[in-house]
Amino acid sequence: MRISGRVALVTGASSGIGRASALRLADAGARLLLHGRDRDRLAALAERTGGIPLVGDLAGAGEADRLAAEALRLVEAVDIVVCNAGIGWAGPFEAMGAGDIERLVAVNLVAPMRLTRALLPGMLARACGYLMYVTSIAGRTGVAGEAVYAATKAGLDTFAESLRLEARGTGVGVGVFVPGVVATEFFARRGRPYERALPQPLPADRVADLLVDQIAAGGAERYAPGWLRLPVAVRATMPGLYRQLAAWFG
Ligand SMILES: NC(=O)c1ccc[n+]([C@@H]2O[C@H](COP(=O)([O-])OP(=O)(O)OC[C@H]3O[C@@H](n4cnc5c(N)ncnc54)[C@H](OP(=O)(O)O)[C@@H]3O)[C@@H](O)[C@H]2O)c1
Repeated sequence: MRISGRVALVTGASSGIGRASALRLADAGARLLLHGRDRDRLAALAERTGGIPLVGDLAGAGEADRLAAEALRLVEAVDIVVCNAGIGWAGPFEAMGAGDIERLVAVNLVAPMRLTRALLPGMLARACGYLMYVTSIAGRTGVAGEAVYAATKAGLDTFAESLRLEARGTGVGVGVFVPGVVATEFFARRGRPYERALPQPLPADRVADLLVDQIAAGGAERYAPGWLRLPVAVRATMPGLYRQLAAWFG
């Protein structure tokens, strides 16, 4: 999809992958709607990119609908949506509070669905648009200590795949972007730092390049890094071997 001159809404643009992607989209000539919770960071990014900041907490009921309505009040159409805002939670599942479960599901899964429901009709009417969902390798393989996070990302993944089938031939593209480990504030915020030696975290700038290339190409999915498709393929074709390896490597 041509990016120059298009309006792109990026959720979670105040930090990490979303911020880096917003900068890359601005370089490519997109007009930006920059969503997040942190007003100061959004204002600084808006100043740098010429984008419009939109503050909102997607954990709140109806916030995604409010965000979509605000976006459509400000621009005639939203051409590209990057559903990137997301949160993690790390630890044994039984230690997780009910409120934490609900917050993860609300931000990572319900909010992208509701944002899509609000913005997809305009895209279909114009026969033009691209919906990008930032999922996670955790959603494709499962990860110990991140059961709910992984489930929200698996749900988002399957939602996007189904939507892509529905949207076939309409002019609206749907894609998922599947990161592995990216050097952002995600780990500090989830309550447990990333401590493995491998894989090494990718810089957010590099990941943003891949994400924006995927939008330009209109692709259905992209892993960052690309070799992550290997464990997913092993799990699908040799689940017994995959589980043995997962037990060894964690
Ligand atoms: N980092 C990784 O290794 C990794 C790997 C796989 C997938 N991902 C996914 O990549 C996406 C971006 O994460 P990141 O690594 O860039 O983390 P990050 O630096 O922590 O950024 C998360 C973004 O989401 C926003 N956000 C969080 N909770 C929100 C809420 N309740 N309402 C509205 N916005 C909210 C944050 O806004 P404020 O800062 O304004 O609160 C921030 O802009 C997430 O969906 C994450 O699951 C990350």
